[in-house]
Amino acid sequence: MTDVQLKELLAEMSLGEKIEQMIQFHGGFYGDVKLITGPGHDYSVKPDQQWRIGTVLGEAGYEHLKKLQDGFMEKQPHHIPSIFMADVIHGYKTIYPVPLGQGASFDPELTKELAGATAKEASAAGLHVTFSPMCDLSRDARWGRCMEGTGEDPWLNARFAEATVLGYQGDGIEKQGNIAACVKHFAAYGAATAGKDYSGVELCERTLLDDYLPSYEAAVKAGAPLVMSAFNTINRIPCSTNKWLMRKILREKMGFDGVVISDYGAVQETVVHSASYDKADAAAKALRAGLDIDMMSDCYLSYLEEQAKESEELRQLIDESCLRVLELKNKLGLFDNPIRGSKELEEAYFYCDAHKELSVRAARESATLLKNDGLLPISKNSKIAVVGKLATSTNIVGSWAIFAEADKTVTFADAIKSRYPETEVFVYPYDEADEKMLSGCKACDVVIACIGEEDFKTGESKSISDVTLCPEHQALFNAVYGVNQNVLSLLYAGRPLAIPMLAEKSKAILDAWYPGTFGNIGICELIFGDANPCGRVPMSFPHTTGQLPMHYSAFTTGRPVENWTGYVPFASNYMDVTNVALYPFGFGLSYSEFTYSPVELSADTLQKDGKITATVTVTNKGTRDGKELVQLYIRDVKGSVIRPCRELKGLTKPFIKAGESVTVSFDITEDMLRFHNEDMEFVAEPGEFMVWIGGSSLTQNGVNFRLI
Ligand code: GLC
Repeated sequence: MTDVQLKELLAEMSLGEKIEQMIQFHGGFYGDVKLITGPGHDYSVKPDQQWRIGTVLGEAGYEHLKKLQDGFMEKQPHHIPSIFMADVIHGYKTIYPVPLGQGASFDPELTKELAGATAKEASAAGLHVTFSPMCDLSRDARWGRCMEGTGEDPWLNARFAEATVLGYQGDGIEKQGNIAACVKHFAAYGAATAGKDYSGVELCERTLLDDYLPSYEAAVKAGAPLVMSAFNTINRIPCSTNKWLMRKILREKMGFDGVVISDYGAVQETVVHSASYDKADAAAKALRAGLDIDMMSDCYLSYLEEQAKESEELRQLIDESCLRVLELKNKLGLFDNPIRGSKELEEAYFYCDAHKELSVRAARESATLLKNDGLLPISKNSKIAVVGKLATSTNIVGSWAIFAEADKTVTFADAIKSRYPETEVFVYPYDEADEKMLSGCKACDVVIACIGEEDFKTGESKSISDVTLCPEHQALFNAVYGVNQNVLSLLYAGRPLAIPMLAEKSKAILDAWYPGTFGNIGICELIFGDANPCGRVPMSFPHTTGQLPMHYSAFTTGRPVENWTGYVPFASNYMDVTNVALYPFGFGLSYSEFTYSPVELSADTLQKDGKITATVTVTNKGTRDGKELVQLYIRDVKGSVIRPCRELKGLTKPFIKAGESVTVSFDITEDMLRFHNEDMEFVAEPGEFMVWIGGSSLTQNGVNFRLI
C-alpha cells in the first residue's frame, strides 16, 4: 500500500479499531481456552475482539498461523492482517549457541550467518518478527539473562547487535526467508541492581549513554523496525512510560521512527512500580511516551478509548501509533502477502544439513578453553570416563529455545559415541559419585566431568545470589579427582560461574556455554583435537560472587591497586579477594601459541580528521594451525570526566598456520575516541592516549599517541 492508502485506511477506522491495532495478545486468546479462565480472564474482551487485535505473541507453525491469519482477515472489519511475533533468540528449530556463547566467538559475522539461518526456519513457520537481538549489556553474572546478551563490552555488543539485525532481515523484511528484528530491552535492563531480575536500574546518564546504549543504537541503525521497552526503570521512571528515554533518546537522538512495543505486561506494571496511579493513567503515560503496542496488559484495551474520546491530544497520539503499526504491516508486505511460510519450506529448512553444520561450527567457534595443562587434545585411543547428569541431558540448548525439540538435541554422550565410535567411553550420567563411577574413573586415562548448570537455571527470572559452581558438582568433581587427577571440566552454563576450585585442580577447563542442538559434536571435535579452540571470555569470570558486578573496562579510582598480590590498606581493594577476574574479558587458550611483535604506529599524533594505523605481527609459534583473536584496546589517559582504564575498539580473528606470521593493522580515527564529556557533548578530547594490541584485555603490548 502507498502512504496515502495507509492514511486513507486509518481515516476509515474507528477509535476503537485503531486502539485494537495497538495491542498484542498471546496465543491463549486463540486456542480453545475460554476467555473467562484464560490468559486474560480479567480483560474485558468483547466477542470476537481477539480477531481484531493488531499482533499476536508466541504462536508459530505454518498451518497454525495460516488458520489464525485467515481468522483475522475474515473478522477484522478492514481485513487488516495481524503480525506474528515470537522469541526466536538463537535459533527456531535448529538451536545455535546462546548469545553469550556467540559473544565468546567474538565473530559477529558468524552471528549474522546464524541469524540468517534462523530467519529461514522462523519465516518458513509463518513468523514475521522475532524479539531479538537482546542488546542488554551485562556485567553481573547473578542476572540470569546475561546468557541472552553478548557480554560486558559496549563496542562488541554493538557489533553483534547490528550483525544480528542484518542477518535476520537480509534483503528485506517483506521477503520470505527473512524476519524483522525487535531490539530489546530498551534500555539497560542488564544493569538490574544486584543482578536481581526486574529490579531498578541506577545508572548515571553518562554511563547509560556511553556504555549501555551503543548496542541498541547499532541495532536501530542497522534497520530494526521495532524496539521493546524494558521492565526496569531509568532515572526512576519505568521505561514504558519514560518520555525522556523513549522520545528524546530513542526517537530524537537515535532517529528511530519504527514501532515501540512494551515488554510483557510492562505497561500495567508501571502501576505496581507506583509510577502510574491506575491502568488508565498507565495507558495515557505510555501513549505519551510513544509506546505503540501494549503487550499483554489491558491498559490500552480497556482504558484508552474513554480517555481519548475526551482528548484531542490522545486521539492524535493514537493516530500516530496506529499508523506506525500499519506502516510496519506494510513494510512486512502483509497487505499483499499476509501468509508467510509453507509446509514445504518447513520441511526444507528445519534441521537441514546446512543448519546442522552451522550449529556444529558455531559451537566450535564459541567454546572457550580456560585452562589446559597439556590434557587436551585427548587421544582418540584413550579410555575415557564421562561423568555427570549433563552428559546425557538435553537441557544444554539454553533458555528461550521455545520451539526446540528435545529429541533432536545431541547430548554430549551421544556426540562422543557417534563422532568417535572407536574411542572407549564409559558414561556415568549422574551427579552423585558411587563405587561404580569411581572405579570406572580410576581405570580410565581421562575423566570428563560434565558440570555447570542445566539450561533452565539461566534466563528470565533466573537470578541467583551466588554464582559459585553448585556444591553437588563440586562434590562430584572432588570425588572423581580423588581417584583420577586427569580431569577435564566440561562446563555447561549460561553465565560466568565462579570456579576457583576447578581452576586450581582441573587439568583442563572447556566452557561449552550452551552449544545448541548439534553443538556437542563440535565440542567433541575440540576435545579430540579435530578442531582448535578459539573462543574467548565475553564476560569476566569472578573468583567470587562478591566481586560482582565486574568488567575489564573499569575506572582506576583515586587509590588503584596495580597487580594485586594481597590486601593493600586504604586502597581500592577487598581484604579477602583480588580485584581482578579469574578469567578476564578477551582471554582464552588454543592448541597453538601466538606471540605479538611490539605495536607500531604510522604516526604518534592523530589529527581530528585524520587517521593513524597501528600494526603488529602475530606469529603462531605452536605446532597447530589456529585462529587468534587479535584485540585492539585504547585508553584515553586524561579526560574532563574519568575514563575507563581501557576499551575494546577493534578485533580480527586471523587463521595462522603453525610457524607462520601475519601482519595485522587497525586504523584509529577520532570518532573512535568520543565519549560524553563534562558538558554531555559527544566528543573526543585532545590529549594522550594508549593503544594496546594483544590476545586479551590484559595485554601490555602497547604504545601511546596524542590526539591534537
Ligand atoms: C518476556 C521477556 C521478553 C520477551 C517477551 C515476550 O517477559 O522479557 O524478552 O520478548 O516477554 O515473550
